[in-house]
Amino acid sequence: MSKNKVTIVTGASRGIGKGIAVSLAQVGYDLIINYYSNNTSALETKNRIDALGVRCHIVQADISIPEDRVKLIEFTKEKFGSCNLLVNNAGVAPSKRSDILEATEESFERVMNVNLKGPYFLTQLIANWMIEQKKEAAEDNFRIVNISSISAYTSSPGRGEYCVSKAGMSMMTKLYADRLAEYGIGVYEIRPGIIETDMTGAVKAKYDKLIADGLTPIKRWGKPADVGQAVAAIADGRLDFSTGQVIDVDGGFHLHRL
Ligand SMILES: NC(=O)c1ccc[n+]([C@@H]2O[C@H](COP(=O)([O-])OP(=O)(O)OC[C@H]3O[C@@H](n4cnc5c(N)ncnc54)[C@H](O)[C@@H]3O)[C@@H](O)[C@H]2O)c1
Repeated sequence: MSKNKVTIVTGASRGIGKGIAVSLAQVGYDLIINYYSNNTSALETKNRIDALGVRCHIVQADISIPEDRVKLIEFTKEKFGSCNLLVNNAGVAPSKRSDILEATEESFERVMNVNLKGPYFLTQLIANWMIEQKKEAAEDNFRIVNISSISAYTSSPGRGEYCVSKAGMSMMTKLYADRLAEYGIGVYEIRPGIIETDMTGAVKAKYDKLIADGLTPIKRWGKPADVGQAVAAIADGRLDFSTGQVIDVDGGFHLHRL
């Protein structure tokens, strides 16, 4: 059983998920690091977290598979007996960027299953568990954070399925924020902009130029820690009256400028 607050971060072996895990450890959360395939990076992340003095376990689970979502929750129950925060971070870009006039149903299904269906039903599982926990410990805090993207509202016809999945995640945030407010469970959406990770590695040169040319008012790449700090602020209870809120972590990309 855990005395600290506990969080599950999906897809946390690298990139933004790892940045979030480190920030949450720094504000005292015990961690469940979910990873998809790379056990070595998950162990490296665990070592980093262990050094911060909180407890941490790693667990393989594909969030697009129903049995794996149950496994993730059961593993957390077994290791810690509680969970105060779910961070739906795991996500994929299309394997190949294709114009919306040619993109395949196969790619649409893959991206939607990981980016939307997985988090939607994982949230359903955890929400029911959080409601039970709240009945046992009314003073404890429970929150859910969804990592969407500027793609939730920005058109990129070369990866339409990704944009649609993130727009869906925005509505999912509103739905769960509305439904869970009566239980005191806050639900938030964070929209990262252009963040330096493996996901953006393939398009680094393109974004280097766009950023240098002024795409974002703050002229630099975002770092996983930028997103981690925003999640930590929510996890630390600084936005408890703001359920359903969207937080842009994007160097000002969302500003309309003249
Ligand atoms: N990098 C960016 O610029 C950027 C911008 C906006 C939003 N995002 C979002 O942030 C999140 C993290 O992205 P990142 O840049 O760190 O990418 P990344 O590819 O480095 O990390 C994604 C993680 O999710 C995991 N994952 C993939 N499919 C999974 C599955 N089915 N089950 C469990 N885990 C799975 C991967 O193994 C990986 O660890 C994603 O949801 C992404 O859409 C990224």
